Parts: sequence; structure tokens; C-alpha cells
Amino acid sequence: MTTHWDALRARYHDTKGRHILSLFDAPDRAASFSAQAGEMLFDYSKTNIDADTLDALLALVEAADVAGKREAMFSGQPINDTEGRAVLHTALRNLDGGPVMVQGKDVMPGVLETLARMRAYAEEVRGSAITDVVNIGIGGSDLGPAMAVQALAPYHDGPRCHFVSNVDGAHIADTLRGLDAKTTLVIVASKTFTTIETMTNARTAKAWMADHGGDPEKQFAALSTAGDLTAAFGIPAQRVFGFEDWVGGRYSMWGPIGLSLMIAIGPKAFDAFLRGGQAMDVHFRAADWSENLPVLLALVGVWHAQVCGHASRAVLPYDQRLALLPAYFQQLEMESNGKRVQMDGTPVEVDSGPVVWGAAGTNGQHAFYQLIHQGTRVIPCEFMIAAEGHEPELAHHHKLLIANCLAQSEALMRGRPIEEAREKMAAKGLTGAELERQAQHRVFEGNRPSVTLAYPMLDPFTLGQIVALYEHRVFVEGVILGINSFDQWGVELGKELATSLQPVVEGSSPATGKDGSTAQLVNFIHRHAG
Ligand code: F6P
Repeated sequence: MTTHWDALRARYHDTKGRHILSLFDAPDRAASFSAQAGEMLFDYSKTNIDADTLDALLALVEAADVAGKREAMFSGQPINDTEGRAVLHTALRNLDGGPVMVQGKDVMPGVLETLARMRAYAEEVRGSAITDVVNIGIGGSDLGPAMAVQALAPYHDGPRCHFVSNVDGAHIADTLRGLDAKTTLVIVASKTFTTIETMTNARTAKAWMADHGGDPEKQFAALSTAGDLTAAFGIPAQRVFGFEDWVGGRYSMWGPIGLSLMIAIGPKAFDAFLRGGQAMDVHFRAADWSENLPVLLALVGVWHAQVCGHASRAVLPYDQRLALLPAYFQQLEMESNGKRVQMDGTPVEVDSGPVVWGAAGTNGQHAFYQLIHQGTRVIPCEFMIAAEGHEPELAHHHKLLIANCLAQSEALMRGRPIEEAREKMAAKGLTGAELERQAQHRVFEGNRPSVTLAYPMLDPFTLGQIVALYEHRVFVEGVILGINSFDQWGVELGKELATSLQPVVEGSSPATGKDGSTAQLVNFIHRHAG
């Protein structure tokens, strides 16, 4: 890969002084540097990528054997090889597909059977006296369904859904306050059913329900791979929805972990969500590289993060209902591609994944966009916008939203040169040194890259497309970096230390062996906690 990275670095060196705007001298720039999957448009023309750069990036795709690894994933090979697992979240949305084999066994009958049980249970809950559903989970067992329930609010015709993730007692206390224990269903979502935050919250919810007239035996369900542990917790098998270890936590919302979403929007709309994901799978496997959305999105990401050296990436959905999408992508991308070594254990050749962050537009414009426009670091932006909103009576709001979204990417690219800033100051009557000083503050360097994902409307199918698009993008980036995108050893050390610190914090064990800072903080807490 080294020669390919070198070629890309040379490309960056040769083109970095060029203004993105100049690329639009070619009349077909926008069309040539865009691609479509179904009705979804991905426009990456407002980047400094040209035909030669794209060729150099596509050479990475070939050299890393993205095609071979993609098929290894879809065909159930154990590509998560530090855990010896296949990676088959795609099987969960394989509604029209054929068999999917893992170690010689077709997993689809099991997947479809669980889906049928979920549908029946979701309908039962939707037709019952249950008014509120509390999903207790964390990370992949929380972020996906929480994000999607909010995203699909217009399709919500089931009980209210709440999400508790943090072990901070404030989270569960604030959530349960005001709920009626007799009409609340608690879903304990945990792949392993051992995660300390989730199990602590689950026990608290169980005690609350028993104390407030509910029946934990009837009003608890579990989503997990660990049937023995769900039984030990007291949840009867008919309300346990299992899945296999080939579904990674951050890829799991397509199956049982999506139960709260299914209860909220109904099985039919949930099916549409799965079909959107499946449509993106088909596109990812069939489309030529230069038309392939996950591949192009990955290549733009690699260009900005690994070649240009931009350390972060902003995800900016101009859609209030996608407010949780940046947090969801944070786990998806940073837990997947924040790694230090390649599959063979040797150090990664280039930087691993960037910092992913963001917020819904237009709110971000009034908070952090100042830095995006005039700060000294370049932050590549990923905008998202629907052609239509769900509130026809508020169409003028949506038009304003669109105008703002398009204005931001235009402003980032175009900038405002000093001459224009001077003219503005002269028009205000300024002259001489003061005109110059004030004008400098109003200069936007521009030439800042962004991409835009546009789609007709944020319906369940489109949300499925978007999530699957980003999953595959993360996969392609991981393959190019040579890393395993499907393990997460980096979260283990903190978990182990938290376990060893618990008795120290409780005061039943001394802080012996701890560094001076940790010991001092423990002392402070002991003094102030009484
Ligand atoms: O700590 C990281 C992690 O393992 C995530 O990958 C996962 O989504 C989350 O914890 C929750 O795990 P579980 O579903 O097993 O409770």
C-alpha cells in the first residue's frame, strides 16, 4: 500500500493550492463528481478531488481488495478475526435474499423466525395497555434505536419510547419519574447481558416496577445473545429475543436491538427500514466503484483524514429528527476504525479514523460553525438534507432549512476574499488602517471541502439506506486501513480499571498502587461525599 499512499500524498501536494471553485470551470463537474443510489444523491464535487485523485484513490480500493473482503463479509467468513466471528448484520435485513451460510449452516431461517416473533410481540404490545417503553442499553444497544425512534417520529403510532443508557442514577431517575409502572414495558437490551451500566439500570428498573405496582415478570423483555443470563435475571424465554455473535453491537439495530423502534413505528414501517438497508447492500455489491456510494464516501473520508491530514469530520444533518445521528456515527466510526494496528498486528501505515462529531443544522450554525468557517484547521463537512419535510403546512420552514444547508457548503467553498471584505467596509464609511483591520476579520479563506447527501424525504426506507451507507463506508475505510473494524479492544482497559476502582470508591479497599492523581481524586470524593 505504501506506494499508493505516496502517490496520494504527491497528489495532495500538487493540488492543495488549487481552489475547489476552479474545478467548476469544467461544466460537468457537479454531475461527474456525484453518484446516486436509488433516489439518494451523493454530491462530492465541492472537494478538491479531481479525476486523477479519484483514480489514485480507486487504486487503493483495488490494492486493499475491497471487493474480495466485501464478499468475505457477505458470505459469512470470520473476518472479525481477533474474536473469530463472522460479520453478518446484513443477514438481519436480507428480506428478499437467499441463504447466508455460517460454518456450513444457513442462518436465515433463524433470523426470519426471530423477526416473526418480534413482529408478533410488537403488535401485542401496541395493542395492549402499555403506554411507555423504556429501553435500557448502552452503546450499540442504545444509540441506534434511540436515534431511529427520534428520526422516524412522524411514523410513530405506538407507545412512547424512552432510552436509558448512563449508569448515572440521574438518567434512570429522570426517566422513570412520571411513568406508570403498571403500564410500562422495560426492554433490557444487551448483547452480552453483562454490561455493568445496563445491568445496574435494569436492576433499578426492576425494583422500581415491583415497588410501584407493576409486574416485572410480565413487563420485562430482553434482547441478548446470552439466554442463560436473561433467564437468571428472571425474564421468561417467550420475551427474550436472541441474536448471534456475528452481529456486532454497533451494527445491531436491524435485529432484536431494534425492538423498541418496531414497537414505536409498527412492523410494517420497520420492514421498510430493513428494506432500505438491504437496498444499500445490493447497491454496495453491484455498483461500479465510481458509482458506489459507500466506496465514494469512504474514499472522500480517506482523502481528507489520511491524505490531507484533517483530524476531524463534522456530520451535519439538516434535519432536527437526525439530531442523534452524529452520536450514532461517532460510535459506528470511532469504535470501528479507531485502532492502532493492522489485522496482522503491525502498526497502521497511516492515521486511523478521524474524530467524528456534529449536530443538527441550523443549530450548529449558531454555535460551532464560526470555527468551521474561519478557524485555522480545516474540518471536512458532511451535510444531509431532505427535499421535503413531513410538515406540509410548514413548507416555508423546510425551504429555509434547505437554503441554509446549501448556503453553508457554498460559503465553505467560496469564502470571502479580502477585496470583497474591503468593499463592504468602505461601503460602511471606513477608511485607511481601520478599514484594513476590520476587513481582515471579515475574510473567509474558503476552499473548505464538504459533501452533501440529498434524499427525497426521511422515511423508514431512507433511514435504512443512510445507516447501511455509513456502515459500509466504515467497512471500506477499515479495509483500506488494513484494520479490523469489528472488534473494540480499546474499551476494555477502562472497564477493567473501573471494576478494580469500585471497592476503592466505596471505601472497602485502599487506593494502594494507584497513581497520585487517582488517589487524590478518591480522597477528595471521600471527603466531600460524607
Ligand atoms: O463497551 C463497548 C461495547 O461493547 C459496545 O461495543 C457495545 O455496543 C456496548 O458496549 C454495549 O454492549 P452490550 O450490548 O453487550 O451491553
